[in-house]
Amino acid sequence: MPQSGVVINHYLDREVIIMGIKYLEKQRVFKLDAGQTSYVIGVVDDEGFLGHVYFGKRIPDQYLPVESFLRLNEWPQVPSRNNRERLSFNDAFPTEYSTFGQGDFREACLAVKDAHGHSVCGIKYQSHRIYAGKPRLKGLPATFGSEEETTTLEITCKDEILNLEVVLVYTVFEKLNAITRSVRIRNQSQAPIRLTKALSACVDLNGNDYDIISLHGSWARERHVQRMPVGLGKRVLSSVRGESSHQCNPFMALAARETTEDSGEVYGFCFVYSGNFVGIAEGCQFSTTRVVMGINPEGFEWLLMPEEEFIAPEVIMVYSDQGIGKMTRTFHDLMRGHLIRGQYKDRKRPILINNWEATYFDFNTQKLLDIAREASKLGIEMLVMDDGWFGRRNSDNCSLGDWVVNEDKIQGGLNYLVNEVNKLGMQFGIWFEPEMISPDSDLYRAHPDWCLRVPDRTPCLSRDQYVLDLTRPEVVETVYAMLSNILKSANITYVKWDMNRPLTDVGSAYLPPDRQGEVSHRYMLAVYEMMERLTSDFPHILLENCSGGGGRFDAGMLYYSPQIWCSDDTDAIERLEIQRGTAMVYPLSTMGAHVSDCPNHAVHRTTPFETRGYVALAGTFGYELDVTRIPEEDRALIPSQVALYHRFNDLIRQGDYYRIGSYAENHVYDCWAVVSKDQTEALVTYIQVLHRPSFKNQRVRLKGLNPEYYYKDAETGEVFSGSVLMYGGMTMTGIQGDFKGKLIHLVRVEPEEL
Ligand code: GLA
Repeated sequence: MPQSGVVINHYLDREVIIMGIKYLEKQRVFKLDAGQTSYVIGVVDDEGFLGHVYFGKRIPDQYLPVESFLRLNEWPQVPSRNNRERLSFNDAFPTEYSTFGQGDFREACLAVKDAHGHSVCGIKYQSHRIYAGKPRLKGLPATFGSEEETTTLEITCKDEILNLEVVLVYTVFEKLNAITRSVRIRNQSQAPIRLTKALSACVDLNGNDYDIISLHGSWARERHVQRMPVGLGKRVLSSVRGESSHQCNPFMALAARETTEDSGEVYGFCFVYSGNFVGIAEGCQFSTTRVVMGINPEGFEWLLMPEEEFIAPEVIMVYSDQGIGKMTRTFHDLMRGHLIRGQYKDRKRPILINNWEATYFDFNTQKLLDIAREASKLGIEMLVMDDGWFGRRNSDNCSLGDWVVNEDKIQGGLNYLVNEVNKLGMQFGIWFEPEMISPDSDLYRAHPDWCLRVPDRTPCLSRDQYVLDLTRPEVVETVYAMLSNILKSANITYVKWDMNRPLTDVGSAYLPPDRQGEVSHRYMLAVYEMMERLTSDFPHILLENCSGGGGRFDAGMLYYSPQIWCSDDTDAIERLEIQRGTAMVYPLSTMGAHVSDCPNHAVHRTTPFETRGYVALAGTFGYELDVTRIPEEDRALIPSQVALYHRFNDLIRQGDYYRIGSYAENHVYDCWAVVSKDQTEALVTYIQVLHRPSFKNQRVRLKGLNPEYYYKDAETGEVFSGSVLMYGGMTMTGIQGDFKGKLIHLVRVEPEEL
């Protein structure tokens, strides 16, 4: 067992001093320090109850009031001193990982059905291990970090009666206010144990006065921010759609009532998973608020045979004592540095033009080449061929699963098209929807049992399509082979992986009756396996995820694709709220954002072409229009937008993001800034949604600048002090009319230049 204080780990013949996590033996306390955050866990009583002591701003190791924080000084005390009130102890104890059935009546993380049909379980501390680095989660997406950047604690607990081992895994990021959690559950008994609930994280926060911040929406209206009091009782965020969903994102934050964008405490929880999830905040009777997050137990069961292990996916926990903005920036740093992988992790992405809104299904080689020819002249770097190039697909009612090029449309074949595009100096990308099958497809006619379905029930159609049963290995093999054949057949450097309907009729003809509760999670594991295979077989390919727009915009997907199509709503004004909500958690570099034609196809609004560009620049940036048919004056603006992208994308991708004003709140304008890490440069975007007479000279207080520095407006040459811009504000002049906007590029100037 490690000594108190600093732990020395002999690893690869090197002595690693593990600073981030300590076991303070005298107090039987684990102290996890991540950046300026501490998280403390205590082992209590002879039985080894594991309790949550503290989560918040960093505190010293000395004089931790463990007893009182764990409420052990209160009645009924611990079972060894007052066993007649064991239930009351369980009912009030701030536990580290809650289990069902023994008196902790708050939300449980773990519930089982044992060989005798019983659900009761209870875990106690057994041992622990602290080591440098962060383990991978087998088959699952997760954050990563080197031995210098991360330290991991594994606490092994056990239900002695069931012989069920539960390992709670925590990793701290030394330089970020972030801690990750996951759980490994192993059946050490001789009999099968059925897990009916296996969540990933539980935190009993002190107090009842939190607000819960969450991201909700619908198709084309994703991730609008909602904030409301938790109060007493449960606030539940969830998806049972088999995808993380348009309706509710797997993220929640608990903020103190007084917390604002820039001040106050907030705890953010983000699930690194793309399927069914639940996040619950429960205001409890003794002035605590329990937060849990994990795979949604609805419809979930997992049969654990002797010696088998189940891994509950990762939850990222972020603490901020400087408001929601700081939480956001921590998530961004963590995801950019420790979740996103591949060659585009830290690189500018090619500016693409996608033909979906340009042509829908009505295209052929000639049309695509016309678009590419014009686009290449304007500086666009990649053509993406969207839905409709395969099988007999001329509308959305057929051919999913038949991943064979339709040479009636792609005359001359795919390789010819790609070569012609390459000759223009452009790259080529392609759209797939690998998880789906149309009833009107050769694949379905050959294998009607390859879709998710329940015997004797007709599965529910959506967009005229069914979902493939990816729990079947031969389905994965067949679809992957078709995909990889296409990708090998031409010089393709980008894939848009779409997923256009939720899961229903979740049954598999492949799995036995006692494993039907595993289908949704096994489906997700198969998707991850396919994506892992795709990204390792074709490491040069830029993968962009998509699900009817942003229906699967989550941290799980970001492990495989550095960008995700944010929404099918490309209207610049609707995008303000969608992108603001998305960027609450996910970096700007991940948000697929394109300039499209007007009137906008989703909301029929017309906005200035410049404004559409400013909004798309806050994401990956690209085009979604027929560049041969848009008005000449719009086309003429493209080269300057392309230049803005090249000038500012490094800053936008890598900088610190500040929300300054939201139209949803002030009903006039949106404003945000991206500031370089060294604060020498900032790009401010201001979009005036409504021109109101009295708001002609709107003054906006900027954020994130260095108050000691001086900044020059690169366009006007005007010089400002950072403190004046932040405390007094910048006056937004010269913006006439609705939906107008501007970019302000501020660059630090040395005092001697003044
Ligand atoms: C989804 C995507 C769109 C487009 C269509 C094609 O809706 O979000 O961008 O690819 O599918 O069918």
